[in-house]
Amino acid sequence: MAKRIVEPFRIKMVENIRIPSREEREDALKKAGYNPFLLPSDAVYIDLLTDSGTNAMSDRQWAAMMTGDEAYAGSRNYYDLEKKVKELFDYNYVIPTHQGRGAENVLFPVLVNLKKKLGATNPVFISNFHFDTTAAHVELNGAKAINIVTEKAFDSETYDDWKGNFDIQKLNENIKKYGAENVAAIVSTVTCNSAGGQPVQMENLKQVYEIAKKHNIFVVMDSARFCENAYFIKERDPAYKNATIKDVILDMYKYADALTMSAKKDPLLNIGGMVCIKNDENIFTLARQRCVPMEGFVTYGGLTGRDMAAMVQGLEEGTGYDYLHYRIGQVKYLGDRLREAGIPIQYPTGGHAVFVDCKKLVPHIPGDQFPAQTVINNLYLESGVRAVEVGSFLLGRDPETGKQKHSDMEFMRLTIARRVYTNDHMDYIADSLIALKDKFSSMKGLDFEYEPPVLRHFTARLKPIK
Ligand code: F0G
Repeated sequence: MAKRIVEPFRIKMVENIRIPSREEREDALKKAGYNPFLLPSDAVYIDLLTDSGTNAMSDRQWAAMMTGDEAYAGSRNYYDLEKKVKELFDYNYVIPTHQGRGAENVLFPVLVNLKKKLGATNPVFISNFHFDTTAAHVELNGAKAINIVTEKAFDSETYDDWKGNFDIQKLNENIKKYGAENVAAIVSTVTCNSAGGQPVQMENLKQVYEIAKKHNIFVVMDSARFCENAYFIKERDPAYKNATIKDVILDMYKYADALTMSAKKDPLLNIGGMVCIKNDENIFTLARQRCVPMEGFVTYGGLTGRDMAAMVQGLEEGTGYDYLHYRIGQVKYLGDRLREAGIPIQYPTGGHAVFVDCKKLVPHIPGDQFPAQTVINNLYLESGVRAVEVGSFLLGRDPETGKQKHSDMEFMRLTIARRVYTNDHMDYIADSLIALKDKFSSMKGLDFEYEPPVLRHFTARLKPIK
C-alpha cells in the first residue's frame, strides 16, 4: 500500500493556483502547438515540467537573503559558501556560477584543453549519463559524450537498487577504445537523471574513481541531486545504515576531483550553481580565468551575495535526513499509487520524479509519433497537470541521416518540485492519470507542424494524427 510521509514543515505563505476549465485547457494546448513547453504557466494547475529552480525556499533561506553582501569583490557570502563546501565535500576551491550549465561552461573547456596539450586528438567524456546541457557543453568543445549506464536501467519493470550505476565493463572497454589520453573526464551523475533519477552505489563511484586514477583521468561529479543520492545510499547500503547524510556525502566526494552543481535542485534554490575543485590549483586557476568573462568576478560568479547566502542555508537544509525522508517518500508515494493501479513506471521510483513508461502504456504509438508526448497532452487535457517528455521527442534526429534516432525509453517524467506540492496534490496527479486508463488504447500519436533544427522539443509545434 502506498504510504504517505507527513510534511516536516508547516506553510507560512501560499501561492494560489487554479484549475483552468476543460475548454480553457483545450484552447491553451491548441495554441501551444500541442507542446506543453509552450503553455503559459497560468494555464497549468500542477506543474511537473521540472524540479529545477521550482523549489520553495524556507523562512531561514529568505532571512539569509537579507544578509547578502553585494560587494563586487570579496563578498562575505562567498567565504561562507567556501566554508560550507569544505564542510560538506572537503574541497578547497569554489567558483559560483549562475546555474549548472554555467559551471559546465567554466570547467569543461579547461579539461579538454589540458588533455589536448598532453596530446589528445579525439577528446571524449564518459558518463553514466550526460544530462542534455552537459552533453551540449562536451560537444561544443569538440568532444564526444559517451553514456554507459547499466543495462538494468533499460528494464523498467525489474527492481534494482542501483539503476544509476556505471557499467564498469563498458567503462574499461571505452577507455581502451578511445585511449586514456583522449578521455578529458569521467562525469559521475548523481542521481542519474536520464535513467529515472536513479542512484549510483558508493562501491560503483569508488570503482570508477580507481579506474580513472589508474589511467590518470579527471573525475567530475555532476551534483544536481547529490543529497538524494546520499539518502538512497544510507537507506540501501547496509554499510551506511548508521551514517549521517553528511557522512555519506563526504565519502561520495572522495571519489571525484571536482564537482559541477546546479543548485536549482537539491540545494533548494530558484537559481544558482557552482564549480568546486578538490585540490588541483592549476585547474582552479584556469577555470577562474574563464569565470570572469563568462559568469562574473570570481567571488560572485553568476550570483548575487544574497543568492549565495540562500545557497549556504539551502545546502544545510537539503542535507537533513528528515527533509530527505519526506522528499523521497513523497515521490515514492506517487510512484506506488500508479504502480498499484497498473501504470508501468521506472521501478523503483527515482529521487526527483516518477518516470512513466509510455512504451508499455501506449505500445501502438511508434517512437516517431511520440508516445510519451501523446500521454502528456492527454494528462494535461484531463487535469491541468503538465509533465515532460524524456524519449524520442527529446532525442531528435541523427544529424547525418536526418532520421529520427531510436530511443530505448519513452518516458513521461512527473517531476516533483521540492516542498511545493502537498500529498493531496500527489493524489490528484495519480487519480488523473488513472482516470485515463480506458483511453490509452485509443490514443493517437503526434506529427510535426513545425520542427526547429536544434533542441526541437522546446519550441516545436505538433498536431494530433487523425
Ligand atoms: N546536470 C543534471 C544532472 C541536470 O539534471 C541538469 C538540469 C543540469 C546538469 C544543468 O543544470 O539547469 O542549472 O543549468 N536539469 C533540469 C531538469 C533542467 O529538468 O532535469 P542547470
